[in-house]
Amino acid sequence: MSDNKVQIFDTTLRDGEQVPGCKLNTEQKLIIAEQLDNLGVDIIEAGFPVSSPGDFKSVEEISKIVKHATVCGLTRSVENDIKVAAEALKYAKTARIHTGIGTSDSHIKHKFKSNREAIIERAVKAVTYAKSFVEDVEFYAEDAGRTDNDYLARVCEAVIKAGATVLNIPDTTGYCLPHEYGAKIKYLKENVKGIEKAILSCHCHNDLGLATANSIEGVINGARQIECTINGIGERAGNTALEEVVMILRQHPYLNLDTNIKSEMLYGMSQLVSDSMGIYTQPNKAIVGANAFAHSSGIHQDGVIKNRETYEIIDPKDVGVTESAIVLTARSGRAALAYRAKNIGYELTKLQLDEIYTNFLDFADNKKEVDDNDIHQIIENSKVYKEI
Ligand code: KIV
Ligand code: ZN
Repeated sequence: MSDNKVQIFDTTLRDGEQVPGCKLNTEQKLIIAEQLDNLGVDIIEAGFPVSSPGDFKSVEEISKIVKHATVCGLTRSVENDIKVAAEALKYAKTARIHTGIGTSDSHIKHKFKSNREAIIERAVKAVTYAKSFVEDVEFYAEDAGRTDNDYLARVCEAVIKAGATVLNIPDTTGYCLPHEYGAKIKYLKENVKGIEKAILSCHCHNDLGLATANSIEGVINGARQIECTINGIGERAGNTALEEVVMILRQHPYLNLDTNIKSEMLYGMSQLVSDSMGIYTQPNKAIVGANAFAHSSGIHQDGVIKNRETYEIIDPKDVGVTESAIVLTARSGRAALAYRAKNIGYELTKLQLDEIYTNFLDFADNKKEVDDNDIHQIIENSKVYKEI
């Protein structure tokens, strides 16, 4: 793997599927997994095999059909979880076991009623056991975002020694600020012995709306894997959105970091996940929302009609959206009206446009959005148009 390649670890089918009320059946998961593979994700986290027979079956079936990506199964640091995950992954071309344990004082005290040393022992035992089934073992230090850096570094060192190839540093509760998360990754890069043998991974939650920013800070500071979901779906406020991190890295080439994602598939992928899960995507969602390439104010429309780049930093075609939309509202100007009228066959003179625009504004003040049918009616009913 080249040093400027960021691996994309998609967890739509695991963390993403933890959205309340959004259960997918195996058939739906297979369709999504196949498309994720075509999209170019490097790792597909297919599920948590020990959690239910249905999840086991999904991981097993996904392992059979995925052609390029590594297929991954989640476990706790529990022997039976790991054994069951290995069994579910046995058909995968390349398999990864993702095991781990909570490392923050809060998790150690309240969840495990344990102590720091005992947690390191459990982590090492889990990684060693996972390693007896697969070469590729990822370790997650749950709640790493709130884990003391010195202790986190000791955990990382111990699991690398036990054979972990990827170290996942989750901001499980979405608590960190970007500079703090970036500093945590930098600290681990600089202080964990043996770190050159492993890849650091960002797994950020969006409780404060910072999941994407934190993941980007993570890779700027040396992580080389981002864990994310399509549309940013996931527990509570969700996970890092795959489409956002991919396009941020692509639109900022000076960072010298890129992914293997075929970005033209992003919009279709977003629609597939939204439809399958029955989760509506907010219109203002970056990259894939219905309004991401829609312009409605007169000043912006005039600019975009003259040159798209005045108000768009991404060519919509690059993410699979056919074209930018010029939405007609009472805030639109003459340029937008003339443009939309031309699209439906009316070449308006300046004189015609002046009168029709006045009629258009009267109409638009009473309707949120003016459609092609409305434009047609407004033009046909305008006196100046009939006369010429
Ligand atoms: O958010 C988290 O900590 C997780 C781990 C289980 C990887 O999803
Ligand atoms: Zn998570």
